[in-house]
Amino acid sequence: MISKTNFPKNFLWGGATAANQIEGGYDLDGRGMSIADTLPGGKNRFKIVESDDFDWSIDSRKYRYPNHLGIDFYHHYQSDIKLFSEMGFKTYRFSIAWSRIFPRGDEEYPNKAGLRFYSEVIDECLKYGIEPVITLSHYELPLFLAKEYGGWKNRKLIDFFEKYVQVIIKQFGKKVKYFLTFNEINSAGQHPVMGQGMIPKTGSLNKQNVFQAWHNQFVASSRAVKIAHDFNRNIQVGCMLLYATSYAYNSDPRNQLANLQNEQEFNYFCGDVQIRGEYPAYTNRLFKKYGVKNLEITDQDLSELKKYPVDFISISYYMSTAIEVTQNSHDTAAGNLIGGVRNPYLKSSEWDWQIDPTGLRIALDKLYDRYQKPIFVVENGLGAKDKLTKDNKVYDEYRIDYLRSHIQAISEAIADGVPVMGYTPWGCIDLVSASTGEMSKRYGFIYVDLNDDGTGSLQRFKKESFMWYQRVIKTNGADL
Ligand code: BG6
Repeated sequence: MISKTNFPKNFLWGGATAANQIEGGYDLDGRGMSIADTLPGGKNRFKIVESDDFDWSIDSRKYRYPNHLGIDFYHHYQSDIKLFSEMGFKTYRFSIAWSRIFPRGDEEYPNKAGLRFYSEVIDECLKYGIEPVITLSHYELPLFLAKEYGGWKNRKLIDFFEKYVQVIIKQFGKKVKYFLTFNEINSAGQHPVMGQGMIPKTGSLNKQNVFQAWHNQFVASSRAVKIAHDFNRNIQVGCMLLYATSYAYNSDPRNQLANLQNEQEFNYFCGDVQIRGEYPAYTNRLFKKYGVKNLEITDQDLSELKKYPVDFISISYYMSTAIEVTQNSHDTAAGNLIGGVRNPYLKSSEWDWQIDPTGLRIALDKLYDRYQKPIFVVENGLGAKDKLTKDNKVYDEYRIDYLRSHIQAISEAIADGVPVMGYTPWGCIDLVSASTGEMSKRYGFIYVDLNDDGTGSLQRFKKESFMWYQRVIKTNGADL
């Protein structure tokens, strides 16, 4: 049924992916290794690379590495982008693999073949009027920077990143208007390996290092804003936060307080610095909690943070969490990264991520109340097992239900007065799952014939949700 739409005319409908989860071609045309290349397939992949004895080398006899092939976007990008355009995408969010541009991360000159590849991808988007949104770093730090420099806890990475951004902006700044700095920067509190490229052997799980690495990333983010604005003031740079709406489990003031502190620590700390340009008042409490002392933070850093905050906020939103601190044992839901308890009012996905569209409206309202900057929902979606029928159809009405309810929530937030810039559901084409390395955890509107064991034709098929999303975009969200 077509109804009135709350979405503005220029709303950026599209989809999102990340280089390491789709491209493949991990050793082609001069690309260097990234940390994502060392992740084995399987539910324990984070556990394996976060263990003290993992040496970050490839052992193909022991493991399969699904990110090495991705979905072979490297060789399919033209036909994949054509499918995006058929769906009516106004925008496509993808990331640049830093190690395609600087294979080790610390070289003097960039790899021309890497630049050429992204130039072609960008031109392909523009050919269809699709606005590229580029993530500069999406869980794919050059492996060399992790092994030799210890990842983001090392200040030298600020300079390497600055150089990388200079190259990207100089090369693509005339064609691309939107850039995001660090994907889900706040998730490093849980997974410093992924977000900060820090190897456990060198003490990555130590909070001192995590906060130092965050500080270095904050400064690097400010430098990216400066570089982009100096090049062209119309370029907009956003931060990217993993936002999980957090509820107190009940009205017990102890749970209410714990929830407030959880929100500050998980949802807001990184944003407060990147968006407001200064450390929030509760920083000292956080440092005390984790025994963090004497971080290397210079006056020059603080002035850069203040001078170059981000232009907009982007978030991923998949689920909410509930906080309960008064009891010893809890029933927890798997996807609740931030250690909350199961919310009895919500249903869960097949991977036990709790589904909460209302939480998205709450997130958008709260973020805008706090920061008064435009917000871009750059990830959202349902990881589910799909079944390809004999005649190559996928009836994924469960995915449509999930997306419809979340789009509805965005529409209500817009009616509340929140300026939402766009919506790019995650994994618009099936891709390798970040947390499990599975292909069978599918998010896409487009089915990719590839199995967890690496077999499959790599052929692409439109799912039922493809036609549904096409209609949503065509009617600017009126026909959900
Ligand atoms: C986000 C990441 O955390 O969630 C993506 O930015 C990831 O890289 C997505 O793929 C979904 O998570 P998963 O583990 O189901 O792939």
